[in-house]
Amino acid sequence: MDLLLLEKALIALFAAIIGAIFISKLRGKKFKLPPGPIPVPIFGNWLQVGDDLNHRNLTDLAKKFGEIFLLRMGQRNLVVVSSPDLAKEVLHTQGVEFGSRTRNVVFDIFTGKGQDMVFTVYGEHWRKMRRIMTVPFFTNKVVQQYRHGWEAEAAAVVEDVKKNPASATEGIVIRRRLQLMMYNNMFRIMFDRRFESEDDPLFLKLKALNVKEKRLQLFKDYFVDERKKLGSSKKLDNNQLKCAIDHILEAKDKGEINEDNVLYIVENINVAAIETTLWSIEWGIAELVNHPDIQSKLRHELDTKLGPGVQITEPDVQNLPYLQAVVKETLRLRMAIPLLVPHMNLHDAKLAGHDIPAESKILVNAWWLANNPEQWKKPEEFRPERFLEEEAKVEANGNDFRYLPFGVGRRSCPGIILALPILGITIGRLIQNFELLPPPGQTKIDTSEKGGQFSLHILKHSTVVAKPRSF
Ligand code: HEM
Repeated sequence: MDLLLLEKALIALFAAIIGAIFISKLRGKKFKLPPGPIPVPIFGNWLQVGDDLNHRNLTDLAKKFGEIFLLRMGQRNLVVVSSPDLAKEVLHTQGVEFGSRTRNVVFDIFTGKGQDMVFTVYGEHWRKMRRIMTVPFFTNKVVQQYRHGWEAEAAAVVEDVKKNPASATEGIVIRRRLQLMMYNNMFRIMFDRRFESEDDPLFLKLKALNVKEKRLQLFKDYFVDERKKLGSSKKLDNNQLKCAIDHILEAKDKGEINEDNVLYIVENINVAAIETTLWSIEWGIAELVNHPDIQSKLRHELDTKLGPGVQITEPDVQNLPYLQAVVKETLRLRMAIPLLVPHMNLHDAKLAGHDIPAESKILVNAWWLANNPEQWKKPEEFRPERFLEEEAKVEANGNDFRYLPFGVGRRSCPGIILALPILGITIGRLIQNFELLPPPGQTKIDTSEKGGQFSLHILKHSTVVAKPRSF
């Protein structure tokens, strides 16, 4: 038994030495790799860094190894960039080289091996999908077509919160109602549909289904096919405005995409649009509850610019600088996708004088770019004023490489055009109609965060007291 153990130990040691030699050769000779912790064979750096590669852990590693470093995660190279200049290089200057997405077994299952748009490699398919999705989703015309719907959804949230007697006393988990609102905002665009209430059976079913095949089937049976039926029975008269799926089905009928692509588009919108926006609204509310002075200042802006009780609409957002600053500050401190969606280089590439082997996974630590005290004044403070004072020129669209909540360049978020007005309308309406407070007995709500590779959301959905205002 002991001998067997010894034999195994020797084999492991041998493998370790061979591996170390191999990697040092890779580092030293053939490739000039970025710095990083020394990997061990097979596991790479897994044992040292663990698999919780969230923005804070990666920030700690950047402080140790610099603005570009390399981790070996098993077989894959993971390159993390943590400076505005390198972010510019990856996302803009060498945007084509680094414009692909990594794939793994899980992604392949969820995207039918890259038949979608969000997770597909940079190339013809991605270009086609992005083009086909632009007209139905990502133009100002879409905003103008649906903004009344979003305003109605926000008004319905206000009504429901007012109706709930718990709101003004022990408080409610307002996120639950906002989740319904976000589904409705997106399902209106996609299918011209909405769910009546949080108990709507189809809504419950949709939320519960995280097995991909079943979700796609549900989208097909209950939404895509329903819309097709409506189209073929000519119930849609010509004057009725098309919703997104009508455009997408047209592209399918022309043979540009197949039936699966249609469903993956619906799936992508569900994944990319609903929760990200919801997390941001949830963070915004939490920060406003914990900063009553900022909340009052925002309410004052709404009351004076619009008139007390006059409900904010989409065109108002551009005339409300403090509201815009609150939204920007929320997206800075509580960035919903803090490491962006991982990028990848299909071929060997160079970055800051280092070699980046083909098919490396590239993470841009966008959260750190926006929270680095060397770049921002007291970044740990929630202070919307910064976007009206020293950072007045910084926009959310990537005009400054220190602030990339939606990324920038080819793979940047096309949904920014919808997300910003939805955030403005929703937060604006809540602050106009309620005083938002922590629950009784608490002075603040818990803003501990849960950071993953794809998300930064609040750990515990907050209970908030919403006291209706009278005008
Ligand atoms: C506050 C809300 C949102 C935030 C913070 C956000 C952020 C992001 C980020 C950081 C990326 C990755 C950029 C990169 O990899 O370089 C992304 C990609 C994407 N987002 Fe958003 N997003 C939001 C809302 C939305 C909405 C509402 C939609 C659609 C209606 C949407 C659709 C997409 C799509 C399709 C992509 C993939 C683009 C591509 O790979 O070419 N997002 N988003």
